[in-house]
Amino acid sequence: MAAPKVAVVGAGVIGLSTALCIMETCPSCSVTILSEQFSPNTTSDVAAGMLIPHTYPGTPIHVQKQWFKETFTYLFAISNSAEASEAGIHLVSGWQIFKNTPKEELPFWSDVVLGFRPMTKAELQKFPQHRFGQAFTTLKCDCPPYLLWLEKRLKAAGVQMYTRKVADLWELHSEYDIVVNCAGIGAHQLIGDKKLFPIRGQVLKVHAPWVKNFIRDGDGLTYVYPGIHRITLGGTREKENWSLSPDPGTTKDIFDRCCSLEPSLRGAQDIQVKVGLRPSRQCVRLQREVLSQGGVKLLVVHNYGHGAGGFSVHRGTAKEAACLVGECIAALQDSSSRAKL
Ligand SMILES: Cc1cc2nc3c(=O)[nH]c(=O)nc-3n(C[C@H](O)[C@H](O)[C@H](O)COP(=O)(O)OP(=O)(O)OC[C@H]3O[C@@H](n4cnc5c(N)ncnc54)[C@H](O)[C@@H]3O)c2cc1C
Ligand SMILES: *[C@@H]1O[C@H](CO)[C@@H](O)[C@H](O)[C@H]1NC(C)=O
Ligand SMILES: *[C@@H]1O[C@H](CO)[C@@H](O)[C@H](O)[C@H]1NC(C)=O
Repeated sequence: MAAPKVAVVGAGVIGLSTALCIMETCPSCSVTILSEQFSPNTTSDVAAGMLIPHTYPGTPIHVQKQWFKETFTYLFAISNSAEASEAGIHLVSGWQIFKNTPKEELPFWSDVVLGFRPMTKAELQKFPQHRFGQAFTTLKCDCPPYLLWLEKRLKAAGVQMYTRKVADLWELHSEYDIVVNCAGIGAHQLIGDKKLFPIRGQVLKVHAPWVKNFIRDGDGLTYVYPGIHRITLGGTREKENWSLSPDPGTTKDIFDRCCSLEPSLRGAQDIQVKVGLRPSRQCVRLQREVLSQGGVKLLVVHNYGHGAGGFSVHRGTAKEAACLVGECIAALQDSSSRAKL
């Protein structure tokens, strides 16, 4: 059988990392990325890119932990290499703080991040409105640089990339053997997944290079995430809201909330406002599907629905998707050898 032709739909962090894992596991594959938008115009470009998992209620915790661990290990190696600054990957230390003691003492990811421990009384003096907190070091992706770094690696591996909106996966059937759906919130329209819904997030990206530590209010709504060049201030979680226009009242509210945690942000400059739609679902859809129409079959692998935590688990889910592509290739080879008999 000739080298299998794989189309990956989507060029956010999930599409790009999935294409890379497919090339790594199947170097003889011909992989093409088709996407309506590329960096800097994807949801992935809006994200803060912090490696702090969000919990998917429909996925077993040990699976989520494995995805996070694989992602952490992969990015930790990049952060320790000469590529770190170009890839936009760096370690960052800080605090997750609570107004009350959290229900579960330890989050499932506490032994994956580095140096996780309860905050001391002295540290808590920084946050007079909070009673409890956890200190740790984790990784952060500076999103546009990381996406560009992934694109560069893909181009070097011979992956083609085209700007194209796919209206129906069947469009790709005559040209490709396998289609990988990494369309994020776009999967709502592309395949009509009614279980997928947007959670709108508005953030500010500001210049305040003196702030070095991250701060995350335990409710997950207010956060200060320093990157290499800019700090992301958040945020909002607006379920089922599709609006991509920034709301000025929300901008002021986010800024005030962040300043109440870190008063020096009052001096922040060059405030940019961004909005993204988190592709939310009970669980990530990581699944093989055989579509069939009038006796014709189309092999599909889905990898979408990463909600508020796509960066935190991207490498783990990309590896699993690449494995499913491998199963599709085995099925194709099996049927082509049977056809020859
Ligand atoms: C404000 C905010 C902050 C966040 N912060 C974090 C964080 O700190 N840590 C973390 O882990 N996660 C964070 N996230 C979540 C993270 O951004 C997402 O989980 C992740 O970006 C999803 O990646 P994706 O590749 O699936 O989606 P996207 O980045 O949206 O990519 C989807 C791609 O598919 C393409 N596409 C869609 N439909 C079609 C179609 N029909 N035809 C062709 N192409 C199509 C799009 O153009 C795009 O290229 C945040 C999200 C937001 C909104
Ligand atoms: C991003 O969007 C802008 C505005 O629509 C467009 O001019 C630019 O070419 C887009 N960038 C890419 C890489 O597609
Ligand atoms: C969506 O969010 C925007 C900005 O926060 C707000 O102005 C608008 O009313 C919301 N729309 C719906 C339908 O909730």
